[in-house]
Amino acid sequence: MSEIKGLVFDLDGVITDTAERHYLAWKRIADRLGIEIDREWNERLKGISRTESLELILAEDPTLLLDADEKEQLLQEKNAHYLELIAQTTAADILPGIPELLDDAKRAGYRMAIASASKNAPLILARLGLSASFDAVVDPESLIHNKPHPEIFERAAQALGLETHACIGFEDSLAGIEGIKRADMPAVAIGIPAFGEWLPDVEVATTAELKLAKIVHKVKMKERVEG
Ligand code: BG6
Ligand code: MG
Repeated sequence: MSEIKGLVFDLDGVITDTAERHYLAWKRIADRLGIEIDREWNERLKGISRTESLELILAEDPTLLLDADEKEQLLQEKNAHYLELIAQTTAADILPGIPELLDDAKRAGYRMAIASASKNAPLILARLGLSASFDAVVDPESLIHNKPHPEIFERAAQALGLETHACIGFEDSLAGIEGIKRADMPAVAIGIPAFGEWLPDVEVATTAELKLAKIVHKVKMKERVEG
């Protein structure tokens, strides 16, 4: 059994409620294309890169044949709209329970990293006043594979100087939970309505329920049971 020494966090929907703003920005693009998406459909975009998200939306209407320039234009528009939506982001937008969790973790000596698919992650962390709270932020542009591949979680652990199984990963997306588990890391799922093949070790409905001691205890108990 390995001692937990690190915490690896997704950003959007875990540290702050940007998941909703990604959805609103995509919805505007989809509406313009005449494609209907709703919050339930949007679950599949969580954790998915900007380019892959656009491809998933476009796949809803096979009659729409866009060339590379048109796609690039839509990607830029989506990001511009997203940036408008996060323009007023401040520390007040950190999700409930997260400040306490980060404080407890720091005090207990855990090393912490961000494993987000978002190229906007450093900007958002700065707006939240959290840039100095993490020992590492994985640059998604340096990755070969996107979530659900485990690479981003492996890289986060590596950046902390830890084995993946000595970290706990926190995610609000199915792609993220799969990536964490495939990286051999215990996983905490936040507000995920239903699971497929990959199951988390701990499940909470909202970040307000995240209590560090309780989570570490649950992960250890689970490891003991599973040997
Ligand atoms: C993930 C979000 O964290 O980042 C996705 O869950 C988003 O919804 C992805 O598409 C990429 O973000 P960005 O900021 O690079 O467009
Ligand atoms: Mg997320």
